[in-house]
Amino acid sequence: MPNSTSKRRLWRDVRVFDGLRTLPEPMAVVTEGTRIASLVAMRDADENLVEGCSDMGRGGVMTPGLVDCHTHLVFGGGRADEFEARLEGASYEEIARRGGGILSTVRATREASEEELLALARPRLEALIADGVTTVEIKSGYGLDVASELKMLRVARRLGEELPVRVVTTLLGAHALPPEFKGDSDGYIDLVCREMVPAATQAGLADAVDVFCEKIAFSVAQCERVFVAAEAHGLPIKAHAEQLSNLGGTAMAARHGALSADHIEYLDAAGIAAMREAGSVAVILPGAFHTLRETQQPPIAALRKAGVPMAVATDANPGSSPLFMPTLMLNLACTLFRLTPQEALAGMTAHGATALGLAGQGRIREGAEADLCLWNVESPAGLAYAVQPGRLRQRLFQGELTHGN
Ligand code: NIG
Ligand code: FE
Repeated sequence: MPNSTSKRRLWRDVRVFDGLRTLPEPMAVVTEGTRIASLVAMRDADENLVEGCSDMGRGGVMTPGLVDCHTHLVFGGGRADEFEARLEGASYEEIARRGGGILSTVRATREASEEELLALARPRLEALIADGVTTVEIKSGYGLDVASELKMLRVARRLGEELPVRVVTTLLGAHALPPEFKGDSDGYIDLVCREMVPAATQAGLADAVDVFCEKIAFSVAQCERVFVAAEAHGLPIKAHAEQLSNLGGTAMAARHGALSADHIEYLDAAGIAAMREAGSVAVILPGAFHTLRETQQPPIAALRKAGVPMAVATDANPGSSPLFMPTLMLNLACTLFRLTPQEALAGMTAHGATALGLAGQGRIREGAEADLCLWNVESPAGLAYAVQPGRLRQRLFQGELTHGN
């Protein structure tokens, strides 16, 4: 009997979306241990390939495991009251200015214990996993003091230990100004730079550092100070930028070599050029656009023309995107922003991985990690076309079957 690390599995006659494109012919795919061992056209599959494999069946659409590169899954409380207030006409910015929004989640998150936060976040992450996610980024940003930010990051790390998914953590200390620093945003940025970034680094809890560059959050100059601190600690950076207005945060982040700039509805030509120059990924978040009933479209056609890779993510969070379904984001990215289904899928596989500093992951090719999804859909485009939970037939994480049989 082969042991589990050498176990060979064979899928026949699958349509493969390889992370960048749909392969033209039906394929045979073999995994061995934690890796993809072979990827060959069906008509070239011979006896040698099949030798010693367990038969995983025939047909279906295979994609890399989905990569959700932007989430805020760890939080206390809920914001249904804010949802209702926005439906009655209050804007996201107005609610934030009167101490609601992100700050209401900060209050609930500070009060919650690590165990409580873990118990709350677990079913959210299980929902993403059931919809095909094998890699997820999770941000802090609802603690806004050193102890509470570290508490959130520890919860994120524990989720990755307890569930069959790769968790990448991001310190988002500069998400909002906590009430105890009212009137002293520079003082708070001092705390982020001098205490939070060093503490998260020393504890090994942050894989990257993020900021919210916006009028209701932090200025370009303040965000740049956070990036300088991150760089001094060897951490890659990214930014929530150009979501509600154009401040130039994206161009500044790109000059610092940002992995990604996220939201970017208000991004201008200079920002796009800076991203192209830096090789930053544009993270498109249609869930927040939809939830906040925004009207300013991200500059998709210009990003496409410039060759800036576009990722698509849920932005799952209690305020601007309480939507915990990655395949819904594929649909919204196409319907709201006119991405092609292939672009949307690449955004949640290969380009999502690049946005996390994992370039080369989120692909189906020989030698790649066997993080795979097999779907009951007619074609890869079918995943974006219909919104229908339960289409995941099989899921492999690091070569282990975690869903289906
Ligand atoms: O990505 N834009 C800022 N931050 C989050 C929203 C967080 C919240 O509203 O709780 C976002 O949309
Ligand atoms: Fe976000």
